[in-house]
Amino acid sequence: MATRHFLTLLDFNSGELNLLIQRAIELKAMVRRGEHYEPLKNQTLGMIFEKSSTRTRVSFEVGMAQFGGHALFLSPNDTQLGRGEPIEDTARVLSRMVDAIMIRTFEHEKIEAFSRHSRVPVINGLTDTYHPCQLLADMQTYSEQRGSIAGKTVAWIGDGNNMCHSYINATLRFGFRLQVACPPGYQPDAAIVATAGDRVTVMHDPREAASGASLVSTDVWASMGQEEEQKIRKAAFKGFMVDDAVMACANADALFLHCLPAHRGEEVSASVIDGPQSVVWEQAENRLHVQKALLEFLLCNDAIK
Ligand code: CP
Ligand code: NVA
Repeated sequence: MATRHFLTLLDFNSGELNLLIQRAIELKAMVRRGEHYEPLKNQTLGMIFEKSSTRTRVSFEVGMAQFGGHALFLSPNDTQLGRGEPIEDTARVLSRMVDAIMIRTFEHEKIEAFSRHSRVPVINGLTDTYHPCQLLADMQTYSEQRGSIAGKTVAWIGDGNNMCHSYINATLRFGFRLQVACPPGYQPDAAIVATAGDRVTVMHDPREAASGASLVSTDVWASMGQEEEQKIRKAAFKGFMVDDAVMACANADALFLHCLPAHRGEEVSASVIDGPQSVVWEQAENRLHVQKALLEFLLCNDAIK
């Protein structure tokens, strides 16, 4: 059977993704009960980080440790990748030694090229275009707090970035509508928007986007790799902060999510992220549980499938 990779949410069908969410909820309960479950004994996850990370690194590393396996942190500064060894050769070599590989990098094409030359599953830990592991955690969090997201409206407010693109993918797999509000010039990729048909509407007014939403989500205005644009983006995104006035346009029971790291006073007010509708700490913790479900799915032959 061909090796399965998780480069975008669309690599898995709706049934598989919903199984992952349910399994993540079970694995979380097992950790809470102090149950030891070690299905990945003697298995190793290679983790290539070409950008910084707190949550992604710690959740994958702890997840592998809890599963009885091992995670290997690889940075371009300390490997031959940083000295120009081709990504294809790195994929050929690493995938003969480790059991799965997680990559955080810049161009999405790079992870696609890597996966074409890998014998083992490749997991996208964030590229410039997508952040699918974060969406798994977001969907788990919504499901735990409110039940099924199918048929609901979600608001994405801010940059049409990697997170926004993964939310667009999620509309196709989880069956919700997405209202995106971005400043002109910062919309999501038109080709990605087009794949979702009438499930996604792109507009320029955050209050209009929040209207009728059961979930409101945002992200930094300048992503990793865009540090030099920080000043210009700050000006462009003026008026796009998710604050109490924006949340007041959403449904009364709407949740607030942010993949983190957050900038209070920029894309979100302190009153919202630290307020009663915010479940961002639960969301961050769920990275651990849902990525364990993903690793189990990809690496255990008798895992849920
Ligand atoms: N949300 C997220 O991916 O966080 P890190 O950049 O800390 O991994
Ligand atoms: N859009 C952000 C997400 C960080 C988790 C970035 O790419 O930097």
